[in-house]
Amino acid sequence: MANKIFDITEFAKVARQAVAEGVVLLKNDAKVLPLKEGTRVAIFGRSQFNYYKSGTGSGGMVNTRYVVGVYEAIEQDGTLEINSNLRNTYEDWVKDNPFDAGAGWAAEPWFQKEMPVTKELALEAREDSDVAIVLIGRTAGEDQDNSNAKGSYLLTDDEQQMLENVTKAFEKTIVLLNVGNIIDMKWVDKYNPSAVAYIWQGGQEGGNGVLDVLKGAVSPSGRLTDTIAYNIEDYPSTNNFGDSKRNIQQEDIYVGYRYFETFAKDKVMYPFGYGLSYTSFDIFSNGFIVDDGQVKVSVTVTNIGDYKGKQVVQAYVSKPQGKLGKPALELVGFAKTKELKADESEIVDIVFTNYQMASFDDSGVTGHKNAYVLEEGTYVFYVGENIRNLTRIGTYNVGRTKVVEQLTEALAPQIDFTRIKPEACEDGFSISYEDVPKATVDATDIRKANIKAPIAKTDSDFKLVDVLDNNCTLDEFIGQLSEEELCAIVRGEGMSSPKVTPGCGGAFAGVTDSLVAKGIPTCCCTDGPSGIRMDSGKKAFAMPNGTLLACMWNLDLTEKLYNYEGLELRKNKIDVLLGPGMNLHRNPLNGRNFEYFSEDPFVTGKNAAAQLKGMHKMGVTGTIKHFAMNTQEAYRHTVEHVASERAIRELYLKGFEIAVKEAGATAVMTTYGSINGYYTSSSYDLVTRILRNEWGFEGIVMTDWWAKGGKAECGDSTDMAAIVRAQNDLYMVTQSAKDNTNKDNLVDALSDGSLDISELQTCAKNICQFVLHTPTFARFIERNNELDIDLANEAEDDETEFDNIIDCRIDESGSAHISTDLIETARNSSNTVSVSFKERGDYKLSMRVRSNATSDLAQIPLSIFRDKELVKMVTLTGADKDWQNVEVVFENCAMTFFMRLYFAQDGMEIDDITISLAKSKEEEFRLMFARMGEQ
Ligand code: BGC
Repeated sequence: MANKIFDITEFAKVARQAVAEGVVLLKNDAKVLPLKEGTRVAIFGRSQFNYYKSGTGSGGMVNTRYVVGVYEAIEQDGTLEINSNLRNTYEDWVKDNPFDAGAGWAAEPWFQKEMPVTKELALEAREDSDVAIVLIGRTAGEDQDNSNAKGSYLLTDDEQQMLENVTKAFEKTIVLLNVGNIIDMKWVDKYNPSAVAYIWQGGQEGGNGVLDVLKGAVSPSGRLTDTIAYNIEDYPSTNNFGDSKRNIQQEDIYVGYRYFETFAKDKVMYPFGYGLSYTSFDIFSNGFIVDDGQVKVSVTVTNIGDYKGKQVVQAYVSKPQGKLGKPALELVGFAKTKELKADESEIVDIVFTNYQMASFDDSGVTGHKNAYVLEEGTYVFYVGENIRNLTRIGTYNVGRTKVVEQLTEALAPQIDFTRIKPEACEDGFSISYEDVPKATVDATDIRKANIKAPIAKTDSDFKLVDVLDNNCTLDEFIGQLSEEELCAIVRGEGMSSPKVTPGCGGAFAGVTDSLVAKGIPTCCCTDGPSGIRMDSGKKAFAMPNGTLLACMWNLDLTEKLYNYEGLELRKNKIDVLLGPGMNLHRNPLNGRNFEYFSEDPFVTGKNAAAQLKGMHKMGVTGTIKHFAMNTQEAYRHTVEHVASERAIRELYLKGFEIAVKEAGATAVMTTYGSINGYYTSSSYDLVTRILRNEWGFEGIVMTDWWAKGGKAECGDSTDMAAIVRAQNDLYMVTQSAKDNTNKDNLVDALSDGSLDISELQTCAKNICQFVLHTPTFARFIERNNELDIDLANEAEDDETEFDNIIDCRIDESGSAHISTDLIETARNSSNTVSVSFKERGDYKLSMRVRSNATSDLAQIPLSIFRDKELVKMVTLTGADKDWQNVEVVFENCAMTFFMRLYFAQDGMEIDDITISLAKSKEEEFRLMFARMGEQ
């Protein structure tokens, strides 16, 4: 590493490598790729002007210093020769058809109108070019699912026409998909382009990583983490996706390849784990040993082609059907080689455990209800380069069904429904259905039976640091907190609280003066999965998205990338990143799939764990979210997910379990929706019994922003008592914890006995325990905070831009009006107003603001700066449709200053902007002298 501790250039190199390794090449006929130096390329598709660095919403709101798209990367590099006539044609067209940003949060279009490509245009381009590159782009995101419609999951007519005409005119066409999710791929058979690759959404270095693959500096080693079927209807979850009230998960554990490999192999176009390289590999098994509940597989990988490259080795197990029924194959391990030269070999080891091979019996059919069991029979092990290209390496016999872990019933469904079960037939398995076991215990009864005795109230004067120094126990420290303080500490503040780094998502812990006086500092968290989101407009590094990173199958590289993310968090005084997002790709239409990793829980858990380990090295952490089952964005605040306990444990919780057990996750965010009768924020089974008691999680659990609590049928965002009872420690977010601006029911619940003070004390303990390990606490007590000091001393890049300055002169009248026409309120707009005046003094900005966002859930921040200093942030939600007054006083203005209004999102309307003299210095002096004269 160079001299700087946080070196953005090094960060960018690692991100670029990650993008290159995440590209999944699906087709490469006649080795059209890699492209030789000097190849003349004709670049089609308007996405050359608007590379999607990420999806939308909180997982994409990073203010980047730059974004290199595919076109820019090719142009800057100069190795390939771009057809400039074609580019000019596009440039002219884009002038008349500019990027359509839509109506803001959750209302951005999924695609941009494509330039019609006629046969003539394609043939003309062919005359001066050897190869066509076609870029197709899509976005989606928070509050906005994909749909099985043209322009979303399907290609538009213009895109089809472009492909048809380009593939006819060119012998060599390379199609690059700049998308967050997998999309319908039937067009590949129809137009038969030479090469097709998913380049995903790669953050600010995206184009550079893709360039490295195109020209062969990197041989592709990305592999699909989802199954691509021919039709969206082929996914068994499609029938139960997108409902506003309830999704009944009949497909049970048969999600993704678990379904297709068991029941519908012929519906698969590209199998799970698939991806091509510029070379080929031999994967040879050196055998395996079973030892102490672990299986150790050794594999020799040899590069038998003529190009350098890395290979991913995947290990699967086929379990006996037994009484439970099992998917045909399950992924249990993977490893990636280093870059191997032609003829070079490497031995890689893959280890997996009995626990990974076990299945959960939620009915008792094996004789062991609520246990992970290894059912008797033969377990067959395979290794290979994808799920369809495997070598059987041996078998392992279990003589009698073994219990691997006995648990107790939790989160079981409360209504009747049936689920898929395999039934052996002539050529494999057919689908049969069985009744899903229902809940037999009530989580509320279990909670009541486990309420602890309260910690007695004391009047000691311990500070939090006394817990660290063993001068008192955490219980003794908590015993001093008053009821008011206990109610305040569970309320997180935000968005953009002035108590922490400007523009961040939330402040928590020391949110009132009295808590701070007890030595609890205010900690800071912010989004998110694709880099740090600071709505103040401060710049941060835009990361490649979750799906891309998972497709690398390279956990070491992920960890390294997240070392840099950790440093950037430290530099910005942020303790907790609100990511990784790790919900399963249950269905390709989920709008937030780009943030998430895979249809497979093992891949998901391993990736989340690697990100956490990377950040932990720098003393900060990430929040694993959304716990659990946030598998659709439409109606996410209201929809109830109904699933069997087996599916919940084997699939939807598994990734979280891995992140907790393997990487020591210490922060969790629950979802907006509900599972089997309870909002996740208020699910005692989910948060206390499974997360904390079974997995040993010791950390904080926070709600999603402005989430609801309570039972599924009566969710209420003021029902904080239900949230605390589940041990979901923090309600995120309220404007003022002290004033209880969210009007939560804590005080009432304490007085009517529906909440026990010990339950609040437990949450306060979880929060304080967490705070003890944060960088903010180290700074607060001025110990072990050298890294922060060093980082603070590193020069900041100058980010203030002073172009398009609006002139505002205040004359003798003492006030000036600024026309709203001059203020640009679109997303990422920065307006600089030069305020000049005759009289020194305090000046006041007054204006009115309201939301005009289409979605009530939109988050719309405005940051107000005086010169470089942030003086106020106003965050509206989409529902704030009435005018609100905003006033900001700029004190002691002696000469012209620059006022900057920065809009991080679309959707805010402003009016009546006036700057006026609030207090004149001359007048102040005059009065002062007059008073002195009187004395
Ligand atoms: C999202 C979370 C995010 C939070 C704060 C919510 O709308 O679901 O993932 O962390 O906002 O921005």
